[in-house]
Amino acid sequence: MHEDIAEILISEEQLQAKVAELAAQITRDYQGKNLLLLGTLKGAVPFIADLARAIPLLLEIDYMAVASYGDSTQSSGVVRILKDLEGPIDRKHILVIEDIIDSGLTLHYLIDMIRRRNPLSLRVCTLLDKQRERVKLVETAYVGFSIPDRFVVGYGLDYAQRYRNLPYIGILKPSVYEQDTAKPETQHKSQLE
Ligand code: IMP
Ligand code: MG
Repeated sequence: MHEDIAEILISEEQLQAKVAELAAQITRDYQGKNLLLLGTLKGAVPFIADLARAIPLLLEIDYMAVASYGDSTQSSGVVRILKDLEGPIDRKHILVIEDIIDSGLTLHYLIDMIRRRNPLSLRVCTLLDKQRERVKLVETAYVGFSIPDRFVVGYGLDYAQRYRNLPYIGILKPSVYEQDTAKPETQHKSQLE
């Protein structure tokens, strides 16, 4: 375990087992459909890479990079697109692949934007679902794990752009950010998600 991690919340083995389970469900549900897995940069990259390889369907993968506007403590829910989809999606079934849903603001805005481009269908698969009050409700078709309202890192999730490469999901030690002006509950709002 990394020295900055207080506790491993979800182990590498648990992650891989859940990925296999979600992939099996998605494979059943999208049989014979023109599926596009849409990952959000950067946090969802390890998840979508593992998930896609466990789905034996003909599918496409694309990414969107978004950043939330807002002050240091509050996500405004208005999202700036840093990288858009490569083509039209009106003949595709879109499955958005997210790392974590927190307030729901970012994803809500993203979903709205994608919906206006008239995909054949639009659903969300999130690895983590934080148990807290949502500012915006987002319907999730596939959820990996419900987790407590703690700041977690690893398997794509970062604090100040670090720890994304940890193979497990862990709770960061408070000492890591105690002296830091960019507290974990605020820092991600102005960064690339
Ligand atoms: P929100 O749903 O608009 O509040 O923002 C969601 C985004 O904030 C996620 O996509 C992550 O990038 C980031 N985020 C929220 N909670 C955590 C966490 O516990 N660890 C790391 N990033 C997080
Ligand atoms: Mg994210």
